[in-house]
Parts: sequence; C-alpha cells; structure tokens
Amino acid sequence: MLLDHAADLLFEHSLFNGHPRFWGYITSSSAPIGALAELLAAVVNPNVGAWLLSPMASEIEAQTIRWIAELLGYPSDCGGLFVSGGNMANIVCFLTARQAKAAGNVRELGMYQQRLRVYCSKETHTWVQKAADIAGLGTDAIRWVPVDDEQRMSLPALKEQIAADIASGDKPFLVIGTAGSVSTGAVDGLGAIAAICREFDLWFHVDGAYGGFAAMLPDTPRDLLKLSEADSVAVDPHKWLYASLEAGCALVRDPQHLRDAFAYHPPYYHFGVEAINYFDIGPQNSRGFRALKVWLALQQVGRQGYVSLLSRDIQLAEELFQRAALDPELEAVTRSLSIATFRYRPADLGASRAETEVYLNQLNRELLTRLQESGEAYVSNAVIGEKFVLRACIVNFRTTSADIQELTLIVARMGKAIDQALRPRDS
Ligand SMILES: Cc1ncc(COP(=O)(O)O)c(C=O)c1O
Repeated sequence: MLLDHAADLLFEHSLFNGHPRFWGYITSSSAPIGALAELLAAVVNPNVGAWLLSPMASEIEAQTIRWIAELLGYPSDCGGLFVSGGNMANIVCFLTARQAKAAGNVRELGMYQQRLRVYCSKETHTWVQKAADIAGLGTDAIRWVPVDDEQRMSLPALKEQIAADIASGDKPFLVIGTAGSVSTGAVDGLGAIAAICREFDLWFHVDGAYGGFAAMLPDTPRDLLKLSEADSVAVDPHKWLYASLEAGCALVRDPQHLRDAFAYHPPYYHFGVEAINYFDIGPQNSRGFRALKVWLALQQVGRQGYVSLLSRDIQLAEELFQRAALDPELEAVTRSLSIATFRYRPADLGASRAETEVYLNQLNRELLTRLQESGEAYVSNAVIGEKFVLRACIVNFRTTSADIQELTLIVARMGKAIDQALRPRDS
C-alpha cells in the first residue's frame, strides 16, 4: 500500500526523463540494470568510506575506476573515486589542483596572500564558480576566456591572460578544458591547452562530465583524445553511460595528489593503510556504493555496446541538425557531439536585423515554454551569441529517428501558431 502510494505519486508527477522524446539538459535515460544495482547496494549497505567496512565494494569501485580510465584512454593506474555527479567530480579535481599548485600548506594556513588564478572558457559550466568559492579563492579568481565561432576556448586569449596575470604578480595555477560544453557540446583544443599548461607549469583539468566518454569512439574528435594528457578529468556516468542518478567520477593522474588534498588521520580511525580507503582520497567520510550500477552496466553493455549507443545518439543529433537545415521554417544553429541547437524562424521574416532577432528570441522563448508544457517532447535552451535557441541533448538509448522527425514537425507546428498570434497578418 505504502509503496503503491509512493509509486503513484512519483509516476504521476515525473518529468519522465526516460521517455524517448526527452532531450532536456544532460539527463539521460537510465539503464534498467541500475535499478537492480541500487536495490542490491541498499540491501547490503556497504559503507564505502573504508575498505574494512566494505572490502568487496571498495575493490569493485577501484575496478570500475580502472575500467572507466581504460574507456577514456586515461592511465588506468590513476587515482579516482565516485562522487555524486559532475559538479562534485570537478570540485574534487579543483581542490586537488589547488593543493598541488598553491605555495605553502593551504590546507592548514588557508588562502591568505595568494592570488591564485584559474582559466576556463566562457562556456564552462557553473560548477567552476562553486569550486572557486568553496576553495577559498573567490569567484574573481576565475578568468573567463572568450570563445571562437565554434564555442571553443580562444587559445591566443588564454595565453595572453596568463601572461598578463603573471606580469601583475598573480599566480596562475589551473586551466580547465571542456570536453563537451553544457550548451553546445563544444570540445576545447585540449592538446594545445595541455602544451600551454606544460609551458607555464599549470595543472591541466578536463571537464568531461558530458562529453568525456565520447573519447572511446573510433571517430572521436582528435581534441577529445588529448584528454589523456590531463592531470585530472571529471566524467559523469549518470550522463553518457546512462547510469541512474547519482554517479560522477573524478580521475587524477597521480593518486598521491588525491591523498595530499584530502587525507586526515584522526586517532579514532584504525583502518590500516595497505588497502584503498576512500575517506583518504575524497571529501566524504561514510559513502554509498555508487560504483555498483556502473560496474554492472559496463559488463552488461560492454565497450562495443557503448560505442554503438553513443554513436547512435550523435547520429540522431546530426539528423536533427540536418532536418532543421532543410526545413524552410527552421534554422539549424550548431551540432557537436550529441547536442543540436536550432530555432523556429518564419520563412517570410526576411533578412536579420536587430528587431528581427529580438522577435525571434521572444518567439522561441514562448515556443520552448509551450513545448515543455505540452508533454509532446522535451528540449531545453541555449543562448548562442545573442540567439535564444532550442537545444536537444540526446543521451537517450530509447530515441529513434521517428522521434527526431516528430520533434521538427511539432516545433514547426507550434512555432507557426505562436508566430500567427504574435504577428497577425491580414488574410
Ligand atoms: C560540462 C558539464 N560539467 C558539469 C556539469 C554538472 O554535472 P552534474 O549536474 O552531474 O553535477 C554538467 C551538467 O550538465 C556539464 O554539462
């Protein structure tokens, strides 16, 4: 009875992000095996904070980290751990970088008298603000580097900013490259960023929360492969490995850096040091068994299975982009990895002028709200330059080509109706 009631409440008031036409944000359809894994993990209830409290679960987490590193082409003897998601995975790496690169013992003495500076593109996800805040740097320490036409970090601007900061006595310590930006899926020039980090002795972190797993694809963008050169990488199994929430993952090339950033040994800890104790390498003490659902899915689906699922998502995003490009009432804007952006644009609107753009933004904003409320399909939005666009992020193994075609028809139909209401014409 009680469970029936809870199930009713949840099914009646869900956003149904496992639906074939759900492409909002970067929230995947979750792999069914994850539900069984969560049940098993809750029943056994290992505390994966210390090996003694969870011997097999700790080993399974360590193996899952190795497998994930192998999938990414990252050294499989790296340090790593599961956390709640992309934000936490990136924040763990940020704190690790701070400890590795700051002068003196910042964990004991704090950040006083150090003007550490961090560099990332303007398209970087907002986790970086939380990280700079939590790490005691303050958000003014973030240098938001402009992007080029493809929404990738401008490398000349990055170098210029680093040089200017050094000249004024600040201390650059970290560059963040994004492997699949949240808005458009853009992949920064990771190889070139790695070289700049070597030149200036900076920590190189890659936010691969969304796009990192695309590094396993045979035809992956070359830049994505250079994620292998990073000092640390964040990836999110609850995005493109289709794990159920929550599952983020922080990888650090040299495991000692994680211990340096997080270990404390109070007298009431008697857990031994010969095995992996996750309390030593991350911010949590008691920890759940997030790795199990990923460990099971990796075995169930296998590398080849994931290669075909991810490739299919990318192919569907490309199909959406092409359909929008061919439709006289739609405008295709970007496509990178499995994110496509587009907007409704009445065919009779004529050449773009400032007023036209204001009108198109109003129209597409209204269209997005209406589409989301309709329940027919779910996309979110991006703002590219000054354009408000619809954004479909396909991390969904249930989506078919017919769903994509349907989306373009729905958007064209709704767009037309809104346009007619906003811009009545004599008939
Ligand atoms: C590039 C990127 N980084 C970080 C995050 C944050 O991930 P989470 O929502 O799992 O904390 C996201 C979320 O979409 C993202 O796209």
